[in-house]
Parts: sequence; C-alpha cells; structure tokens
Amino acid sequence: MTTETPTPLVDFTAAAAEARAIADAAGVVITAVDEVTAARRVNQLAERVWGPGVGTAVDLVTALAHAGGVALLAAQGTAGEPATDVGFALGFLGWSDGLHLHSHQVGVAPEHRSRGVGLALKLAQRAVCLEHGVRLMRWTFDPLLAPNAHFNLARLGASGTAFLPDFYGQMADSINAGDRSDRLEISWRLDRALPSKRPAAPQANESLVLEADSRGWPHPTGEPLGPGCAVEIPGNYSELRQLADPRAPAWRQAVGETLAGAFAAGLTVAEFRNSRYLLAAPHRP
Ligand SMILES: CC(C)(COP(=O)(O)OP(=O)(O)OC[C@H]1O[C@@H](n2cnc3c(N)ncnc32)[C@H](O)[C@@H]1OP(=O)(O)O)[C@@H](O)C(=O)NCCC(=O)NCCS
Repeated sequence: MTTETPTPLVDFTAAAAEARAIADAAGVVITAVDEVTAARRVNQLAERVWGPGVGTAVDLVTALAHAGGVALLAAQGTAGEPATDVGFALGFLGWSDGLHLHSHQVGVAPEHRSRGVGLALKLAQRAVCLEHGVRLMRWTFDPLLAPNAHFNLARLGASGTAFLPDFYGQMADSINAGDRSDRLEISWRLDRALPSKRPAAPQANESLVLEADSRGWPHPTGEPLGPGCAVEIPGNYSELRQLADPRAPAWRQAVGETLAGAFAAGLTVAEFRNSRYLLAAPHRP
C-alpha cells in the first residue's frame, strides 16, 4: 500500500514571499496595472506576443484593473534608467463550478522568455488571489504545446479538468491563426506548494493510448482509456506548424480525439512528463 504525503498548505504570506523571491531571481519587478498608461503598456506587450493588431484592448484592461481584476506588469531596469516591460498577466473572477480566478492571458516578450518571468507572473497572480481568499485559478491552453504543458502541469502542479474543442473558433493572431483552437482547461490549487523540481522518472506501468510512430506521425495504439494511461504529444508542434508539416494537423486531430474521449470517459489529466499527459480518475479532495 502506498501512503500519500500530504501537500503543505500555502498562505498569503508564504505565497507573497515566494513570488517576490522568484521575481527577484528573474530580475523583474511586478506591479498592478493602475491606470490607462499601464493598460497601454499591456496592449503593446500583447502585440509583441500575439502580433500586431491583436493586442488586448486598452479600454478592457483599464476596466478590468479598475474593477480589481488581476492585471499585472513585469518590468526590468537598472536604477536611473527607464524600465523595460517584459511580461504581463490578466485575469478575472468567475464562479462557474466555484469561485476562481480565470487567468485569461500571460505573455512574456519573446526575447525575455525561459528565464523565469512567466513563473514570477503566475506566482504574483497566486499571491493576489490568496490575499483575497481565492484559492483556485483556472485557465486554458493549447494541449499541443509541450513547453506550456510542462510549465502548467509539471512546474506549477495544475491539472487538466476539461477538453474544450475549438474553444475560441478561428483566431487571427500569429500563434493560432489557421489552426483549430482546441484547449485544455486546467485548475491550479493555489494553497498548495509547487511540485519539487525532480527529473521526470519513466513510468514502468504506463500504457500509451497515443504515441509517435518511428516517422513522427501520431499512432493510436488501441489500448483502452483508463487511469494511468498516457497520451504522447510532439515536443515540437510549433515548428511543425511553421513548416506546414502535414504531421501537425494529424497530431491536432489525434490529440483532440484522444483527450475528448478521455474526458467523456470521466478521466482527468493529472500530470505531464516526458512529453506525455498522464490520465487519472478525478481527484476528490
Ligand atoms: C508561456 C510563457 C508565458 C512562459 O513564460 P516564460 O517567462 O518563458 O516562462 P518561465 O521562464 O518562467 O518558464 C517556466 C517553465 O516553463 C518552461 N517553458 C515555458 N514556456 C516555454 C517556452 N516557450 N520554451 C521553453 N520552455 C518554456 C520553462 O522551461 C520553465 O520550466 P523549468 O523551470 O522546469 O525550466 C511564454 O513562453 C509566452 O509568453 N508564450 C507565448 C504566449 C503564451 O503561450 N501564453 C500562455 C497562454 S495565454
């Protein structure tokens, strides 16, 4: 019999300290958007992330910040010089299936990625939520993007709670245009410690329901869906799309069908490791 180690609860003070430490390590200061000038800075950053003409509307960001939504800017700079905006996060409260922050967008300027700014923004969002008694954050992301899956599930410890086929319909931005906007909705328990950064150990008893064949095409194995099953995704979906590689739409279709089937069978997505989603029975706290 295995005994589960209880995950320590995190309160606002601890979350705020952790958020500050991660922001310091990333070399950024995170502030709340407080007026229209800051909302314009968010809009400009969003255009750098998703492309010209599709930045988040300035009036919407202003209203969201005014109402007390979570609108954050990350900037870096040395003393005496104007700060450079490097990232932002936007979220608003929702109450479908319980009170939560819906984190609509987190974006980091391309040249400032992979040095901890995204993590600093997520932890700052978490601290604001816990300060106000909100213990759950939800958001959606494209389940074909392995780096985002790693960030959301492995690094933050969120879990997948729904598959939303073509959630936004056709999108016009530089990341999503021309693709089906399938999304995995995830839930992040904010009062739990982050997972420890252990190297992903291979799972001996994992049964793959979808895998890459020797030429990189998706191959449904025919294994029945159930708790403990794994769904492989390509590690380089964005590159396949950029090259108009025919394996990209094949993966979109195969992963969509598999995840839709998994949720229809009452399963959830518990983890992501080695470019595989691990399916589980819903966890009831
Ligand atoms: C997703 C995004 C916000 C992450 O920001 P970031 O500053 O690069 O993330 P961090 O440096 O804090 O990395 C956090 C973790 O995720 C991984 N990661 C996230 N995005 C990654 C990417 N694009 N490439 C490589 N690794 C990535 C990092 O390796 C890191 O994991 P580790 O600590 O185990 O090494 C950023 O890549 C981005 O703006 N992407 C485009 C917009 C987007 O997809 N937004 C999210 C949905 S709205």
